[in-house]
Amino acid sequence: MVAGELSDISHVRVVPISPEHIDSFHSALDVVARERRYLTMLEATPLPETRDFVMAMIEKGNPQFVAVVGAEVVGWCDISRQFFPSHAHRGNLGMGVIPAFRGRGLGRRLIDATLRGAQEAGFRRIELDVYEHNTSAIALYEKVGFVREGVVRRAACIDNQFIDAISMALLFDETNQIGN
Ligand SMILES: CC(C)(COP(=O)(O)OP(=O)(O)OC[C@H]1O[C@@H](n2cnc3c(N)ncnc32)[C@H](O)[C@@H]1OP(=O)(O)O)[C@@H](O)C(=O)NCCC(=O)NCCS
Repeated sequence: MVAGELSDISHVRVVPISPEHIDSFHSALDVVARERRYLTMLEATPLPETRDFVMAMIEKGNPQFVAVVGAEVVGWCDISRQFFPSHAHRGNLGMGVIPAFRGRGLGRRLIDATLRGAQEAGFRRIELDVYEHNTSAIALYEKVGFVREGVVRRAACIDNQFIDAISMALLFDETNQIGN
């Protein structure tokens, strides 16, 4: 791809995930996981597991959006509901954009759409852990209303290096910024 194409994201659509996106979502997830810097996964889960995950998200009405160029998924954002009834108001957010499409507003479009979907689905609290070196993700989360709650010390160990994570959460009744 040439630089001119990279800077043009006007052709990128942000849409709810559907079954035809699964193979390409799996590829995008694998690309970001194999960077070994940002995600818990160091490679994507096998395709059948990824398919089960996405189909369960769709069936449960959990919000998951993808950024697509033609048929190619170049980014995603999803919120999974906590299992136990006493925690069912809480959702865990995960997201990623493949490297060539970063820094052009796609992450913001994805998180805005997904948070709006979560609010409509009745979630009250959205939470995540982000590695402390991940300054662009932290800046994005703070911009949309996430607040730091604490540090998970030695949350991960990648290539024999421990990484601390920052726990962040957004409470919908503390913010009216969603989608603005
Ligand atoms: C985090 C991530 C999803 C953000 O997506 P993106 O498309 O690059 O982000 P955007 O272009 O929409 O930027 C949104 C905001 O993030 C912040 N941001 C983005 N890139 C940044 C950078 N390089 N440095 C500092 N802040 C940055 C800015 O606050 C920006 O808002 P602004 O443009 O108004 O200043 C993307 O960088 C990514 O996929 N990273 C690797 C995977 C990952 O970290 N996932 C989250 C794990 S918790």
